[in-house]
Amino acid sequence: MSFINSVTELLQNSNQLQSISDTAVLDTELLLCFALDVDRAWLRTWPDHQPEAIQVKTFKALLSRRLTGEPIAFIIGCQGFWTLNLTVSADTLIPRPETELLVEIALGLDLPKVSRVLDLGTGTGAIALALASEHNNWQLTAVDSQIAAVNLAEINRQNCQLDNVSIYQSDWFSQVPGLISSPQYHLIISNPPYIEINDPHLSAGDVRFEPASALVSGRDGLDDLRVVIEQSPKYLDSNGWLLVEHGYQQGTAVRNLFANAGFTAVATQVDYNNLERVTLGCIRERH
Ligand SMILES: C[S@@+](CC[C@H](N)C(=O)[O-])C[C@H]1O[C@@H](n2cnc3c(N)ncnc32)[C@H](O)[C@@H]1O
Repeated sequence: MSFINSVTELLQNSNQLQSISDTAVLDTELLLCFALDVDRAWLRTWPDHQPEAIQVKTFKALLSRRLTGEPIAFIIGCQGFWTLNLTVSADTLIPRPETELLVEIALGLDLPKVSRVLDLGTGTGAIALALASEHNNWQLTAVDSQIAAVNLAEINRQNCQLDNVSIYQSDWFSQVPGLISSPQYHLIISNPPYIEINDPHLSAGDVRFEPASALVSGRDGLDDLRVVIEQSPKYLDSNGWLLVEHGYQQGTAVRNLFANAGFTAVATQVDYNNLERVTLGCIRERH
């Protein structure tokens, strides 16, 4: 028996996405889930279900957007990160799985039970909210230069019901001294923009839909990392840590920046693809 526009048939539209996506089947499932307001388990349970015409129309419209290359997260308006489901928008980066490594390393550091943590360039709030969800006695301060990102992070904070995160607009550290009475942090964490302005990857794939303010950082991609690394020692407590994400070819340059700024125990960790992705260092003495 054949079904017109059954779940199974609609999922066959994944063929159309093969040329633009490495995850065509998953993408199609997510779009159909969004159109039907169900989860992926439901699709497997009801393969012969025939959605209403309006739902099929919605699904096809979503599929057309994906065919233009628009990221799934922007189409459905959310993205999973750590254990959280975050609202996303075109005002900032879609949180990436690599960035979970930053969270994982931060959680493994030997930090005080009640730690003060600063997340620079918070975007959706991903890093700060993930840390806050794991340690409800940590005090998180999160900043972003883009007011639209600050507002988005605040929406996510409220949705995740996390009271231990405060979010502000700030150009890196510019507003930080006024944010808390003693601006000394046990951990500063950042996934800043780090792509070279002429990097050809900027005109391909998902990043075409993300803002330059979240991606691009000067000719060598290091402009923002320089500011963050050079200024962090002033804001770190003794034995405080700085943890940054960077491009996979920036490891050596970033370790040099850490060493020049007075950090010790400088080390780089590789991501799940075995690429240098996160560098950390400790300030033994306050500057
Ligand atoms: C690569 S995105 C990271 C977003 C988020 N932390 C994440 O990991 O998904 C970089 C973020 O830094 C913010 N940003 C760029 N320049 C900044 C600046 N001068 N001061 C503060 N934030 C900045 C951007 O708006 C963007 O949200």
